[in-house]
Amino acid sequence: MRSASVRGTPRKGLIGGVAAAVALASVSLFTGAGASAAAPAPRVDNPYSGAGVYVNPEWSAKAAAEPGGDRIANQPTGVWLDRIAAIDGANGGMGLRDHLDEAVSQAGGRQLTIQVVVYNLPGRDCAALASNGELGPDDLPRYKAEFIDPIAAILADPAYANLRIVTVIEIDSLPNLVTNTGSRPTATPECDRMKQNGNYVKGVGYALAKLGAIENVYNYIDAGHHGWIGWDDNFGASADLFAEAARAEGSTTADVHGFITNTANYSPTREPHFSVDDTVNGTAVRQSSWVDWNRYTDELTFAQAFRQRLVQAGFPAGIGMLIDTSRNGWGGSARPTGPGPQTSVDAYVDGGRIDRRIHKGNWCNQSGAGLGERPTAAPASGIDAFVWMKPPGESDGSSREIPNDEGKGFDRMCDPTYEGNPRNGNNPPGSLPDAPISGHWFSAQFQELMRNAYPPL
Ligand code: BGC
Repeated sequence: MRSASVRGTPRKGLIGGVAAAVALASVSLFTGAGASAAAPAPRVDNPYSGAGVYVNPEWSAKAAAEPGGDRIANQPTGVWLDRIAAIDGANGGMGLRDHLDEAVSQAGGRQLTIQVVVYNLPGRDCAALASNGELGPDDLPRYKAEFIDPIAAILADPAYANLRIVTVIEIDSLPNLVTNTGSRPTATPECDRMKQNGNYVKGVGYALAKLGAIENVYNYIDAGHHGWIGWDDNFGASADLFAEAARAEGSTTADVHGFITNTANYSPTREPHFSVDDTVNGTAVRQSSWVDWNRYTDELTFAQAFRQRLVQAGFPAGIGMLIDTSRNGWGGSARPTGPGPQTSVDAYVDGGRIDRRIHKGNWCNQSGAGLGERPTAAPASGIDAFVWMKPPGESDGSSREIPNDEGKGFDRMCDPTYEGNPRNGNNPPGSLPDAPISGHWFSAQFQELMRNAYPPL
């Protein structure tokens, strides 16, 4: 979601191979007779196919309380386990068991998928401050014993065996080790530390192994977005690092069902008015300031290509991708209706792009954003679903310092008056003013997201 688009020196592309055909396993619900009523159904190829998706009643109530919010309040969104207390329910809210019980009741005997974001790594959010968490860089033992183990114990309860449980594993962690470490100008001491102590890799490996051992759990690892790892220097290195993490702490690549891109980010699913192969007066679109040598211009082409690179890195041929389309619609009156003028490559790209951000590295409460495509199963080849993993209306971070007991810092990328840093090319951050801390309800943003929805509501 957040940190860092980072350009690498252009190199030759890495993409190749043929998308593997994936066989659809049939779903069978256990009803007793011979098999235990508690035995989980075998994993299916796409957990979103032929299933309803859980509507989080807490998010739904907040959405419905907004003027016009009833138009989307019945959409499924992710349930975020963003601290140890969230397992039992933070501040009197629903805990994991409450959500799973409610999911069983929403299922009412039909197939249902619930989406759970597992987000509490030691030294979390090493390149930003807005979602720093409660665990210090060396708190791997606590992560295992107090976070992952209790989650796994609850998910393995036979009462939930007929749910399909999608777990999104630790957004924004592994890509940070690729782009924001070492000699790169974007490096931070915190990311260097997490690379050195290995606790992102170990934490992710442990989570994959523990959760992957539960038959009705489907692990999807966070894979950043095209404006983060779509550059050649980041693309293959990220796939290889994901494979390393998937082999750490007892995990194997078979514990991974797929990957999610664009979680809580704003990168469009498709850029309809220009392609990376276009040229303007002999200059390639890749050389425009906006594209800046990236190999991709949108999430769909990125996710499909990255899927193949992940298979090359050793992941199963049947892995599927998710794309978070919660806030990447970019509709409203500022949305271009056709390509820009061919006067220069920059005019062409800037006039036509639907992504209206100042820079692709901007990630906090983006001004002008709109809801993206509604959650949909199997929308394109290699894509298991478009999902709303980030619940629209929940802030990415506060626009000024707000004391809190959640470990959340103040990141100036959420302050519209900031002048930027190397991770966003030293540009203004394009964020909305007056935002509350990350995860808290931000009514003004919710209203703008509805106004700028694309497709419109
Ligand atoms: C926050 C979490 C929150 C999540 C979903 C993240 O940015 O750090 O606390 O649960 O967003 O809104």
